[in-house]
Amino acid sequence: MARACGKIILFGEHSVVYGKPAIAVPVKSVFTEVNIEKSESFKCSTTYKLTDSEKNNLKKIIGIVLKKLKIRNKNFKLKINSTIPVSSGMGSSAALSVSIIREISAFFGNNLNNNQISEIAFECEKQFHGTPSGIDNNVVTYEKPIYFIKNKKLEFVRVKRPFTIIIADTGIKSSTKDIVADVGRMYEKNRQLYDRYFNEMAGIAVQAKKAIETGEINLIGNLMNENHGLLQKINVSCGELDFLVGVALENGALGAKMVGGGRGGNIIALAENNRKKLIENLLKAQAVNCITTDIGKTQ
Ligand code: MEV
Repeated sequence: MARACGKIILFGEHSVVYGKPAIAVPVKSVFTEVNIEKSESFKCSTTYKLTDSEKNNLKKIIGIVLKKLKIRNKNFKLKINSTIPVSSGMGSSAALSVSIIREISAFFGNNLNNNQISEIAFECEKQFHGTPSGIDNNVVTYEKPIYFIKNKKLEFVRVKRPFTIIIADTGIKSSTKDIVADVGRMYEKNRQLYDRYFNEMAGIAVQAKKAIETGEINLIGNLMNENHGLLQKINVSCGELDFLVGVALENGALGAKMVGGGRGGNIIALAENNRKKLIENLLKAQAVNCITTDIGKTQ
């Protein structure tokens, strides 16, 4: 059985598509698991319900993986289970690809290293996202906090002081592919303004990396707030996301922001120990799902 975890982007979603740095961390409490067995003919089942387009993507991913691994024998069946919310900015598609690649390659005796796994997962991500930056397949493959610049840099980030992040789901499903394409259209219409926003996001990610490495938790929170403000400006947040961000901040979170493609999906809030339970309970009451994760503890 192969497993791959979920992820969140702490800083730099969208700007990362435009070559700016971003920081992502794994979320190991949610995951996708794939199990392969010999079979007379090819079969694939999931323990969760898929939409038609998800079914289609899954088929295409398996096709990409088999092609990349040069496997013609399709006498196997796959069973897929996942606890990662889909279309919510938590890397469900990357985890699906990585776990399928790991399980199929191991079954056929092809030992891939993480770099090879991430590269194939990137090809699969194109199926889901059109023009992905590559951050999701990398963080999900390596399962470590990463500082990432598209086609240029992948660096692991050392977390000096672990900190707690609460992830709260609006319950609204959104398509990263559509939102990235929409940002692309807005960017083309107003390049100067968007370049300025993306450069500001880049500055935030650079400062955030330092703050994580030096354990300046208050600064990490402030930078999250600034990043959220810019995501609002590029028009990828929405009322429901802003509301959950507000609930967290009004109750003492050090910072909060939306994560991933936006216009639905999740927010994250940075909470100190003495506020953690309160913020978690309040977000639980307002969101459809809530996950608390410690960044830097086991990574
Ligand atoms: C990735 O989870 C979110 C975006 O930054 C798109 C990408 O990096 O491919 C919006």
